Amino acid sequence: MIKEITAQELNSEQFINDKIEEIQRAVGDGMAINALSGGVDSSTVTILGHRALGKRLKTVFIENGLMREGESKQVVDLFQKLGVTVEVVDAKKEFFAALKGVADPEEKREAITQTFYKNVFGRIIKESGAKYLLQGTILTDVDETVAGIKRQHNVFEQLGIDPQEAFGYRILEPLIQLRKDSVRKIGKALGLPVEVFERIPFPGPALSARVIGKVTPERIETVRKATVIVERLLKDTNAFQYMAILHEDRVTGMRDNKRDFGQQIEVRCWNSIDARTATPTKLSFEIFEKLAGEIIRDVPGIVSVTYNIATKPPSTIEVV
Ligand code: XMP
Repeated sequence: MIKEITAQELNSEQFINDKIEEIQRAVGDGMAINALSGGVDSSTVTILGHRALGKRLKTVFIENGLMREGESKQVVDLFQKLGVTVEVVDAKKEFFAALKGVADPEEKREAITQTFYKNVFGRIIKESGAKYLLQGTILTDVDETVAGIKRQHNVFEQLGIDPQEAFGYRILEPLIQLRKDSVRKIGKALGLPVEVFERIPFPGPALSARVIGKVTPERIETVRKATVIVERLLKDTNAFQYMAILHEDRVTGMRDNKRDFGQQIEVRCWNSIDARTATPTKLSFEIFEKLAGEIIRDVPGIVSVTYNIATKPPSTIEVV
């Protein structure tokens, strides 16, 4: 049982010092690696890890082909400014090969997990001689996995999986007692810029968590284009998280006076504190019109745009 540290209880300075010590004790004079996606959790772990290990922590950005537009460059540039060198590892082919033909949500998650941890990190760990992977799993990830709601891509021990046995390395999870609001506090205390520690959450399986049905490079490109528009138009809402979802079903539409059996984008925009429960944000009709107009104009093949008005539960934040 993991003991939660609530945002009210959290003493950021003490937490940071304790975790730095724990990481140093575990890794000793060896090497560790950590994967940075640019999200709040992995960004926080990156800075914490570098405070603890300095050059003995190698930080990689896995280009899995499922990330948002321009993400790798943005992350590399930002961390360079913070004094952390990030190596980009191109694993696009491996991820698309593992996802090929997979439509079931849990099978998709499993394909991502195996590709990340067994293939890609397995290889990087071997090449670097590191014994530890440092990662930003948080309590909400564990809860939902253990409850059998979603197999979050980064949860092992709580499912009885020993990473050393399964993948050949140990995993350190310094944020596991925290929820998102507390991670933001730690990120802030570690000196991350506000656009990072206040960034909306983004899931480990990345845009593949936002494609219903099969994941192909083309379908990811469609949802990626829609994501750019949704994130730009909703960034001033102060919502917890917002996203575009690509549906599997096609619907009859019309374009240039001809039938167009097109695709559908669903927009979701959530109010939430810690992702355990969430309610849809009350957006103005003006924003809806902008969303629909720009998505239909700029994302090829889309003829329908909808807004999700269900709460979590029974909905979940992502669709996969
Ligand atoms: P759900 O969709 O389960 O999402 O309501 C709750 C929060 O977790 C994020 N999420 C993930 N984060 N690995 C992660 O690190 C995952 O596999 C994963 N799946 C969902 C989601 O974006 C939301 O903030």
